[in-house]
Amino acid sequence: MSVDNNEMLGDIEEVLFSVGQIDEMVKRIGAEISKDYRGKNLLLVSVLKGSIVFMADLMRSVTIPARIDFMATSSYGSGTVSTGEVKIVKDLDIPLKGYDIVLVEDILDSGKTLNSLLGILWSRKPHSIKICTLFDKPERRDVDVQADYVGAQIPDKFIVGYGLDYDEKYRNLPFVGVLSPEVYN
Ligand code: IMP
Ligand code: MG
Repeated sequence: MSVDNNEMLGDIEEVLFSVGQIDEMVKRIGAEISKDYRGKNLLLVSVLKGSIVFMADLMRSVTIPARIDFMATSSYGSGTVSTGEVKIVKDLDIPLKGYDIVLVEDILDSGKTLNSLLGILWSRKPHSIKICTLFDKPERRDVDVQADYVGAQIPDKFIVGYGLDYDEKYRNLPFVGVLSPEVYN
């Protein structure tokens, strides 16, 4: 994959996870899910847009039968103060009743978004829900949410790439890096 000639590299302070390291994390999680969900009714639910790249790779690392679906959410409340309550912008196509859901997220930060989303999904009577996040910032947690599958725990730094954005940009970086403060200052 073209990394050295990537025109966005100049905006990155430090590469945290290389293409190869991400690949290893995703394959490890894919193998865990394949083992844990054998014989179950697995539905992988991706929360757009941040988890799209992770989802695309993860689903191909899962070696048991699985269904996939997508949803998109946005936060209620204006700008600076987030209540953490989410509004569904694009809903799932598949009714959740009876499914064993693995919610696929890019990053778990304060946990507010996921907490609110879990309430919505549980109200639809799935058989089970587990949380899979590629990155976890445990220091930042405001509400008590824990992920069942985690790629890596990271320090409290703003990261971009592999689906993660700043101002909707950098999602297409193939690696994960810390954004240079000059970019947002
Ligand atoms: P939470 O409700 O605070 O847990 O918000 C999680 C969401 O915030 C993620 O799905 C991302 O969209 C965004 N987010 C949190 N930390 C980062 C980061 O370091 N880079 C990019 N997006 C982030
Ligand atoms: Mg975002």
